[in-house]
Amino acid sequence: MEPELALPDLPGNTSIVGLQWGDEGKGKIVDLLTPQFDFAIRWNGGSNAGHSVKVGDKKYAFHLIPSGILHPQCTSVLANGVVIDPVQLLQEMDQLVSQGIAVENNLRISSQAHVVMPYHKLQDQLSEQRLGDNKIGTTARGIGPCYADKAGRSMAIRMADLLDETRLGEKLQRVTAEKNLLLKGVYGAAAFDWESMFEQYRGYGQLLQPYVCHTSALLHRAMDDNKRMLFEGANAVLLDLDHGTFPFVTSSNCGTGLSAGTGVPAQAVQTVLGVVKAYCSRVGSGPFPTEQDNAIGQRIRERGHEFGTTTGRPRRCGFLDLVALRYAARVCGVTGLCIMLLDVLSTFDTLRVCTSYKINGQTTTEFPADAYELEKAEPVYKELAGWHETLDDVRALADLPTNARNYLDTIAHYVNVPIRIVSVGPARHQTLICPAR
Ligand code: IMP
Repeated sequence: MEPELALPDLPGNTSIVGLQWGDEGKGKIVDLLTPQFDFAIRWNGGSNAGHSVKVGDKKYAFHLIPSGILHPQCTSVLANGVVIDPVQLLQEMDQLVSQGIAVENNLRISSQAHVVMPYHKLQDQLSEQRLGDNKIGTTARGIGPCYADKAGRSMAIRMADLLDETRLGEKLQRVTAEKNLLLKGVYGAAAFDWESMFEQYRGYGQLLQPYVCHTSALLHRAMDDNKRMLFEGANAVLLDLDHGTFPFVTSSNCGTGLSAGTGVPAQAVQTVLGVVKAYCSRVGSGPFPTEQDNAIGQRIRERGHEFGTTTGRPRRCGFLDLVALRYAARVCGVTGLCIMLLDVLSTFDTLRVCTSYKINGQTTTEFPADAYELEKAEPVYKELAGWHETLDDVRALADLPTNARNYLDTIAHYVNVPIRIVSVGPARHQTLICPAR
């Protein structure tokens, strides 16, 4: 029996963000910390995100619902910034109920959240097919087209619309006519029938109605009552629509959009934990300066089981990029780092971390604003001695091999942010808590 983990003492409300290209292991950190919180809030993205949580011998897969749902004291919120596919959401809710988790009292969905419709998913797939070599490599979950309709306004459907039959019918009739022009005319796809979609989505509205509310007001009341909030960012900073490697990004402000996505002001968040892998991985297209498209990348992929949770795609793997990491940490004001999957790096004789880029013959430690510039970046590495010991049974920082500690110190020093948590395996007890600086 492992002793109970002494969790870090985090002041106030806490935000958790991924600092690379996603899949950093945010799920484990969120799950560890949730027992300290009254609210777990998702504020961006949709079912493009995904993680699974293991509790005892039970495994739970989440794409939309915050894993806070596993803790009865915690209210899980899908805030206004999330784009919701009701088919996926209802499937997750059913799965939870069949596993004995009650959702009726502790799940709340924003009436302002936008709905991912069937034509969004089709549009995502057809657009990617048509782009061929220029494709973004999306998860095909309709995320981009749904956010595009949100920004375009006239064709958007929000959760509140699903609850109002008259409004839903009027909107679907109008929107479907226009979508069919695009889908048939540009892509040669079959037309959508608005009436059958209306029947289906009206039904979803009825099922979800008990959960839908004004979540910003709910969170404001929570603030008045000094309730503690954990904000769970989906995707990651380098996929941020404004601050990531545009256009190879997702369609939400996944590093910077907490306030817009919740209605909670930034100053209400006192702790920002940045979750980062001890190396880098990326799915989909786009620049990745430290990528190792070779035996090293293959070895990291196998040791780290680097295959997508949402799509099953093999992830591109490479060395840790400190230039990108420092940039990402600054963009979202990270106050502490969580270093994940350190165990994956055991067995390497030497390791490399990227400390600057060479672009057009110039050396820089600044992350370029333009992905096409980043494409030209040649990484300049610092070489560090590796370690051969397995870290599976390490339970304290002091018990890490010296070279693993040096590796961590190099990261904290370069990024100038203290490390608060180090993960050396998937299990809860394979977590090292670092003292606050
Ligand atoms: P979309 O979000 O499906 O439009 O995909 C846009 C890009 O973001 C693609 O490269 C995806 O692979 C990537 N992406 C979106 N969400 C995640 C995530 O949670 N983890 C890793 N990559 C993601």
